[in-house]
Amino acid sequence: MTSTEGSSGQRAPLVLVSNRGPVTFDVDGSFTRGTGGLVTALTGLATHRDAVWIASAMTEGDVRKSRERRGRAFKVDTPSGEFHVRLVVSEHEAYDRFYNVVANPLLWFIQHYLWDLSNAPDIRDNEIEAFEYGYKAVNEDLARTVIEQIEGEAEPVVMVHDYHLYTLPAVVRAARPDVFLHHFIHIPWTQPDAWRVLPKRMREEIFHGVLSNDIVGFHTRSYRWNFLQCCRDLMNLEVDFEGGVVHVDGREVWVRSYPLPIDYEATRKVAASKRTKEFEAEIERRRRKHIILRVDRADLSKNVLRGFTAFDRFLGQHPEFHEDVTFIAQLMPSRMDVPEYQEYLQRIEALVAIVNHRHGTPDWMPIQLKLRDDLEEAVAAYKQYDAMIVNPMFDGMNLVAKEGPLVNERNGVSILSENTGAHEELGEWALSVNPFDIKETADMIFRALTMSADERERRAKGLKAAVTERDPGDWIDEQLADIRAKSGAMTAGTSG
Ligand code: G6P
Repeated sequence: MTSTEGSSGQRAPLVLVSNRGPVTFDVDGSFTRGTGGLVTALTGLATHRDAVWIASAMTEGDVRKSRERRGRAFKVDTPSGEFHVRLVVSEHEAYDRFYNVVANPLLWFIQHYLWDLSNAPDIRDNEIEAFEYGYKAVNEDLARTVIEQIEGEAEPVVMVHDYHLYTLPAVVRAARPDVFLHHFIHIPWTQPDAWRVLPKRMREEIFHGVLSNDIVGFHTRSYRWNFLQCCRDLMNLEVDFEGGVVHVDGREVWVRSYPLPIDYEATRKVAASKRTKEFEAEIERRRRKHIILRVDRADLSKNVLRGFTAFDRFLGQHPEFHEDVTFIAQLMPSRMDVPEYQEYLQRIEALVAIVNHRHGTPDWMPIQLKLRDDLEEAVAAYKQYDAMIVNPMFDGMNLVAKEGPLVNERNGVSILSENTGAHEELGEWALSVNPFDIKETADMIFRALTMSADERERRAKGLKAAVTERDPGDWIDEQLADIRAKSGAMTAGTSG
């Protein structure tokens, strides 16, 4: 398993570690692709280079598979390529506390400003114990596997991913001071006060873990900035804001931004597939004059309710659009063991029923809600929309905002929240919205559906050019180049 050249010219192993792996196994041994931006981001790296991807066994099927392979790495052949996967089984209760109490919702909510602080969260024994015996325990389980994987390897490089694994780097570093740790965080990093929700000890363990890395990466300059501010204000560390360096325990931690591009060739292939075309034919058969689209995980951060409320307002103000427009919302149920997510889905269904009841007619249903994860079905809708709403309250990057315009064939207009990572790159060509401003969002729906053909074309071209400028290979290369630069600097003694 070799991939990155060490500073001494020796080949070193490349190890990826994340909570969710590239595939999820069913008890019968069949598998489906892992969901979310993280898996999309790492697929190219893991299939095109020699790498071992260490992940949690998340399902009963994963656990069986891991036991069958005695916890060792094994090969999986998928339509996206061949992976070397190593699934780590944690104790059931520990995993439940890790995923359903700490990672989602506690950390996820802090990092998307989702807590309604006068009501929640309450930090009690349950949360403290979940951190100690759930979050840290699962991090230690994965860390032990990482340590085993790199045993005997000179200059190993480990790429750690996301908010599930903040305490893992410290465990790996303690066992292997020579390891190069690179941690990419796929979600926003919020400002210092958002982190004050956590008890000081918990917060400090998280920062100590993240600062055990050599490089910490984010999607945008603003998350990078927020992280640096946290290091200064919450941890009293010396920070170089311009250079993006945190000085800690005589070491330097580089803090960088690497905006994630989409794999546009892979998405184009999906767009051209037979199954996608079948879905498309069905959409065309049923289409009215205009289609508005949203595609999301059913996550609170995605702001689905305000999107529907804006559509409700738009229909109320513009009866001339009645019967002429359909809002297709393809939402993938997610994290359904977390009560906040169950309730959110119920609220979505209830609101859709209200809007459809208020404006619909016997043969026109204004909102068509599809609660499922079907890539081809979503891509078929991407090709056909006239306006796409991507209005998260806060979102690390949002790949839908990039995939939609890539394959859209109608010069569709993007209505894009200014609080998505993607907005840093696409804002110029989209109609920007403040995600909390329902009035503005409703006005933007009207503007998108009444925009001149010339302006639609100009914006659509701009979006297509922006989303094909780089691909995930470039994203990885930028990170590997920084890994080489920093390990070179460390060997040369220019950095502690
Ligand atoms: C986001 C996170 C990923 C996560 C994905 C899906 O993209 O950054 O780490 O995997 O959501 O969430 P899930 O909880 O289903 O893994």
